[in-house]
Amino acid sequence: MDAQVRVDLGRELGRIDPNIHGSFAEHLGRCVYGGLWVGPNSPIPNEDGIRRDVAEALRELELPVLRWPGGCFADNYHWDWGVGPAATRQPRHNLWWSQPEPNEFGTNEFLRLCRVVGCEPYICLNVGSGTVEEALGWVEYCNSSQDTYYTRQRRLSGHKEPYGVRYWGVGNENWGCGGTMTPEQYAWEYRKYATYLRRMDDTVRGGLYLVAGGHTDGWNFRFLREMRGALHLVDGLSLHLYVGGYSASATDFTEEQYYRLMGDVIEMETAVRRAVYLLEEVSPGRQIGLIVDEWGTWYPEARVTSGLYQQNALRDALYTACALNMFNRHCRQVAMTNMAQTVNVLQSMILTCGSQIVKTPTYWVYYLFRPHRGGTALGCDVCVCSVADSQGREVPMVSASASRSQDGKSLTVTLVNVSLEEGVDVQVEIQGSQVRGRPEAWVLTAEDVRAHNSFECPEAVVPRETSVSTEGSGLRATLPPASVVSATLAIDERSWV
Ligand code: AHR
Repeated sequence: MDAQVRVDLGRELGRIDPNIHGSFAEHLGRCVYGGLWVGPNSPIPNEDGIRRDVAEALRELELPVLRWPGGCFADNYHWDWGVGPAATRQPRHNLWWSQPEPNEFGTNEFLRLCRVVGCEPYICLNVGSGTVEEALGWVEYCNSSQDTYYTRQRRLSGHKEPYGVRYWGVGNENWGCGGTMTPEQYAWEYRKYATYLRRMDDTVRGGLYLVAGGHTDGWNFRFLREMRGALHLVDGLSLHLYVGGYSASATDFTEEQYYRLMGDVIEMETAVRRAVYLLEEVSPGRQIGLIVDEWGTWYPEARVTSGLYQQNALRDALYTACALNMFNRHCRQVAMTNMAQTVNVLQSMILTCGSQIVKTPTYWVYYLFRPHRGGTALGCDVCVCSVADSQGREVPMVSASASRSQDGKSLTVTLVNVSLEEGVDVQVEIQGSQVRGRPEAWVLTAEDVRAHNSFECPEAVVPRETSVSTEGSGLRATLPPASVVSATLAIDERSWV
């Protein structure tokens, strides 16, 4: 199969916010306890309780942002349960995930983890069963530099300096587990919370970034309508989308289900377009970012009784790569995304078992996409055949995106061959610059799209260096079936101007 890709350095789509590559960690199953946190007395190597190998893997990934503590957990979590000396913290019941919550991992531990990893924290407030006062106290605890009741508590925990947390979610799925509210009810709650939270803007450079809970078109429309006159209180609107429930598991699926998952990227793109359309309609002068703060695959193997644990195969990686290409194309509006979840839950980046750890194929996709962060997304047209999936959606056999690095010196092109049967010869034409030197290129693939990294065989799906040839003002790449190829090459600085 042949494909032509045209990258136009003169057609800038916007800046790719590094936060587009964020993750999400909830107190659920073994994500926090066992995954991120093992406690200071664990035989598993740790830094004051934070699991060292996992933190190291996230640091290597240069994870930009981490959302916490939920999910559904957030609207039943009272942050004061998880601060103060460890000995005084009491266990509680984790209502949504039917497990004990020891409260060993709380605000200070989360923010320390973010420091160790080098990522921005994004905290989700409790609207469903909390109060405005409680939310304000949390922001004050994290961000205030004044001498107050809450900052004294923070200082007693050994944190003199404010943490400066910028991103705050005002509840989670308040149409469902966050209180089964109507959009109007939520809008009134949101107005109240955000009015007071805004008074804390001066605690962090650029002000707090407040994310409202979005949902379907109907919900978003009614919520935004109810917010009329107060839209300055909304910085971001969230979108959650899980796919894959029709496959038995990450590794047990038919070819038809494989193509259906690839087609689900079209569903995600449609959801993004619709939300963005509404946001632009209601707030033309002021851009409200779209925050896809929960997304990924969710198979029936992930049950509450097993802590929503699921394996992660090459198929998940291909879905992620196609979706990240799509987010690159919509980078003007998509300000952040957080795949669910970081460790041991749903579409994880990392799996652990006791002291063992594996990096999943999904982890490696994020690794390959690193050069796009902070870059300028470029017009990237693909000419290739498509296949209709079981839902009648035309799924293109190649997905692509391209960006110019912040310093203008390099170009990264990410290509996905979706076809399970055929390799593809891709001719990438680069308009607006000469290609310099040999591109650095990596391929992520395996013989079988069900291939995955297990504790016995942790490197079945890892990126390998590959060769991509330069031809005139372009590239030529041969992609094996079911593969992701990422190529970074030097270009003439500013020749596109
Ligand atoms: O990620 C698992 C759950 O899915 C989250 O807690 C909730 O927000 C969503 O429905």
